[in-house]
Amino acid sequence: MQTSILNEKLFIDGQWIQSENTHKVYNKYTGELFSEIGIADKKLVDQAIAAAVYAHKKTIFTPDYRYKVLMRAAELLLSHAEEFAQIIAKEGGKPITDARAEVNRSASTFQIAADETKKLVGEIIPNYNVQGRFLYTVKKPVGVVAAITPFNFPLNLVAHKVAPALAAGNPVILKPASDTATIAIKLCELLEKAGVPRGYLQCVVGSGGTVGEQLLNDERIAHYTFTGSPGVGKHIQKTIGLRKATLELGSNSATIVHSDADINKAAAKLAKMSFAHAGQICISVQRIFVQKSVKERFLEKFLQEVSHLKVGDPLDPNTNVGPMINVKEAERIEQWVKEAEEDGAVILTGGKREGSIFYPTVVTNVRKGMKVSDEEVFAPVVTVSDYETIEEAIELVNDSKYGLQAGIYTSDLSLSYKIPYMLEVGGVVINDTCCFRTDQMPYGGVKESGNGKEGPAYAIQELVETVTVVVNLEE
Ligand code: SIN
Repeated sequence: MQTSILNEKLFIDGQWIQSENTHKVYNKYTGELFSEIGIADKKLVDQAIAAAVYAHKKTIFTPDYRYKVLMRAAELLLSHAEEFAQIIAKEGGKPITDARAEVNRSASTFQIAADETKKLVGEIIPNYNVQGRFLYTVKKPVGVVAAITPFNFPLNLVAHKVAPALAAGNPVILKPASDTATIAIKLCELLEKAGVPRGYLQCVVGSGGTVGEQLLNDERIAHYTFTGSPGVGKHIQKTIGLRKATLELGSNSATIVHSDADINKAAAKLAKMSFAHAGQICISVQRIFVQKSVKERFLEKFLQEVSHLKVGDPLDPNTNVGPMINVKEAERIEQWVKEAEEDGAVILTGGKREGSIFYPTVVTNVRKGMKVSDEEVFAPVVTVSDYETIEEAIELVNDSKYGLQAGIYTSDLSLSYKIPYMLEVGGVVINDTCCFRTDQMPYGGVKESGNGKEGPAYAIQELVETVTVVVNLEE
């Protein structure tokens, strides 16, 4: 039951600021008003950038203190875990079990980033060519970082951007997705308590794209880190010119089920990971390729597992599939599935919508040109197709404008070693689905899935400048 509406301010230059305009955030399952969040106008965004620039130039934020702040943030997150999980479930529509897992992952992301503060070392460069020169490198923060985050992991993807930026010693301007911004603001409250220095963190929420545009066009920002659609990713890259961006974009991720795999195990896990968070995960299983000889056996088990998924209230711990982020998105996918059906695809289960709930949908008989297989569905829809040879399966996976992650179920050791070199993706998961991520690992794609890697140890490399020092030792 809804008890009270949260009123959230913006966090700029160490102050909580009440802005004139607000954005309403709704409970994605009940439709009730959940919170009202301040929207930043042009002046406030400018203030946020100026505060970050000032902090970068004038405030000392030592690696040792960064470590303490990040570790304290992780501790605070764990001590507020249930409160945070409830917010994610309500404003994001994420099933509570997954929301709890996200809070734990976020705490771990902060801890991993804290450890990285101890590894920011340069190196001595051997010099065999020029007499009397000693060469070494130092790592220094790149400057102000703008973090633009999506709704689907509204806490952990904020953690994946803010924690490495702070670990590297950069001030951050966070612009969270407005429909799930409450949790981002709550995280800023914790980071303030954890002792983040004034100006090192600002949170500006926008509505209608103006805040984002202002951030992109401001040359005082050195680096952008973004998760979202390829369209917006391309726009960012085009707008910022030679400045750098880490872009985690979309995908229509695939998993291969080869005939030598444990078919029952593969079917059970794929049924879960094709529909987790209603398919609104960049590495959600969207395309399954099964070797022809086991397709029937696979489908029988797979459809049986899908029929057991519980759809509905995210606050019910038994729920597997909650609502999509809004009715418009559910209507969009309903239309895509209808179009595919009209074009000859067969809906084996699902295809039904109730408000923002779209039922787990399995589609077969798909072909190139259908949106449900070519575009990122970002919805609880998966396609199942067959193949004869592994070469054909690899071609099918690679026949995509995206390349984030792929999975393969096989017991062939030699194929497991070879396949990472053959798939055009940023990550290959063997004997599990493409929808696997743990927070230490490098995470990021190729082609229209973006560039750069997340995972604190990798993200941080893009957030420090390597400065070469040459010392002339000659008299
Ligand atoms: C994403 O949707 O890119 C994030 C996936 C994850 O962190 O598990």
